[in-house]
Formats: sequence, C-alpha cells, structure tokens
Amino acid sequence: MATSKQPRILVTRRLPEAVTERLLRDYDADLNADDRPLSDAELAAGIARADGLFVASNIKWDAERLSALPDNVKILVTFSVGHDHIDLDAARRRGLKVGNTPDVLTEAVADIAMLCLLGAARRAVESQRMLHRGEWEGWHSTQLVGMELTGRKLGIVGMGRIGRATARRARGFGLEIHYHNRQRLDAEAEQGAIYHDRLETMLPVVDIVSLSCPATAETTRLVDATFLRAMRPGSILVNTARGALVDEHDLLAALESGHLFAAGLDVFDNEPHVNPKLVARDDVFSLPHIGSATVNTRNAMGFCCLDNLDAFFQGRPLPFGLV
Ligand code: DGY
Repeated sequence: MATSKQPRILVTRRLPEAVTERLLRDYDADLNADDRPLSDAELAAGIARADGLFVASNIKWDAERLSALPDNVKILVTFSVGHDHIDLDAARRRGLKVGNTPDVLTEAVADIAMLCLLGAARRAVESQRMLHRGEWEGWHSTQLVGMELTGRKLGIVGMGRIGRATARRARGFGLEIHYHNRQRLDAEAEQGAIYHDRLETMLPVVDIVSLSCPATAETTRLVDATFLRAMRPGSILVNTARGALVDEHDLLAALESGHLFAAGLDVFDNEPHVNPKLVARDDVFSLPHIGSATVNTRNAMGFCCLDNLDAFFQGRPLPFGLV
C-alpha cells in the first residue's frame, strides 16, 4: 500500500494498465489518466512536488526546461528508446539521471518496417482506397502491379538493434541486405550484409532504403533532395525511426516527379500534425507512429521505466541509463 514515504512521480501520459498498477504499488504518482496534453501550469505544479518524471517524446526537455527543474526532481525516465526530445548534455550538467527503454521494442518496430516496406512496394494504399470506395471492378492482369521483393536490394541506414532485426526479416523475403552505419559490424552481426562506409555508394545500388538511425544533429534532414536524387529511380523510402530525418518537402517532390516509386512512413515531422499532402498520396503507405504498439512491447517499455526508477531510488545504477 502506498505510504507518504514513497517517492512521488509525475507521469505526463497515460500508461498501460499493468504499468500503472506496478507504479502505484511502489510510488506516489500524479497520473495523466485522460492523456490530455498538460498545460504549462499543470506541468509546473506536478514538477514542483515530484522526485522523478515519467515522460514520453511529446514534450521537449531542452536545456532551458531542464535547467529550470527544481532540486526535488532527481530523475527523468522516458517511455521511448528515442531520446532526441531530451538534451542529455543539459541533463548531465543539471545532475539529472535519465533512462530510456532500449531492446524491448526492437522486434515490434522491425515488424512495422516490413509492413511499411510491403505496403509501399505492393501499393496497399491504392488497393484499399479502391475497395473502400467501391471502385473495384474485378481482377485483371495489369491492375495494381507493384514491386516484388524477391531478388531486390534493401539498404538500411543505421544498423543498430532495429536495423539488424529488420535485416533478419528482410532476408526471409529474399532481399539482399546492404547497410550504412558509422562503424562496420563484425561478421556475425553482419550476416552477409554488404557494408557501405558512405551513403553515396549505397543509395544508387539499392531498391529500397529503410531508416533506422536516431535523430541527432548529424542525421536531421539526412534525407533531402541530394539524398533522394542519389536513390535509384523507381525506388522506395521507408522511415520507422524519426520524422526529423526526412525533409518532407523534398520527399513530396521526389514522389510527385515519379523519381521514387513509393514511401512507407510510420513517423513524421511535427507529429501529430502530419503534412496532409503526404498522407493524401496513393504512393505513401502511412501509419501513425505505431512501431512499438503491441501490448507486450508497451508493457515492457513501461517496466523498463519502472526498473530505472526502482534502481535509482534504491541507490543502484540505472539498468537502462543514458545519463
Ligand atoms: C520510441 O520508443 O522512440 C518510439 O518511437 C516512441 O517514441
């Protein structure tokens, strides 16, 4: 049962039931059961009495916000593997511990990379729209023909856990795997994938490019007009990482000109305000950032956050610590 001695946690988003139950067993908490965006005043009031913050990627924790945190706040855990919404250097300067949720969402996100890839390659949006509008007049041999994956080449940008899990799945579809990464993997992790130390050598030879790298200062708008021009005519872009990696204006131009065959996107710039021109297109297979959205994965992500909080308040290093 909760006692007043338990640390107090401000939770900025609604959590899965199993995660809420465990949180309330071990902590006092200010929950956001309605999942409303918290006003600045609500956030400030919660922060003023919190020992720890349990957040998600919808709020930016930049240097200004972090340096203004009162001394009572000692730890911030984020319900995400991505941490581009947190200025880690500023957290370090402030002496704030920060943890995230690596590993547990790898397989779920790789599944969605394949869904985006297949949806884009096999014209799923056009097919569904035709059916939903009652416009299907029956099968014919030249209808909705798409790109077959067998024998094609997939180029993965960022061969971390999610990139490697995507490669594992893609091999099963008969795709030849190429990748670009800051460092070459060892032979066991590579599993025969072809390494390119520069994007310039990979983009012109692959049929599909899939992004699995984090959004950092170096990778923001990585996919711009130059990148897209270097991709093969008739190729596909898949993004399950972060919207900030792609210049959406340039992507639209590449689709409009017919240079790209299609795109498969689970993430967007400026979420949830998705560019309507992108989602209106028949050649854009789009999903609302559901990469990690399975019951098991979302519970596991929440438990990683709780494991981080437990470790901190018991005086142990964070098991999934960033700072
Ligand atoms: C993650 O974990 O980074 C997901 O994309 C949710 O933000």
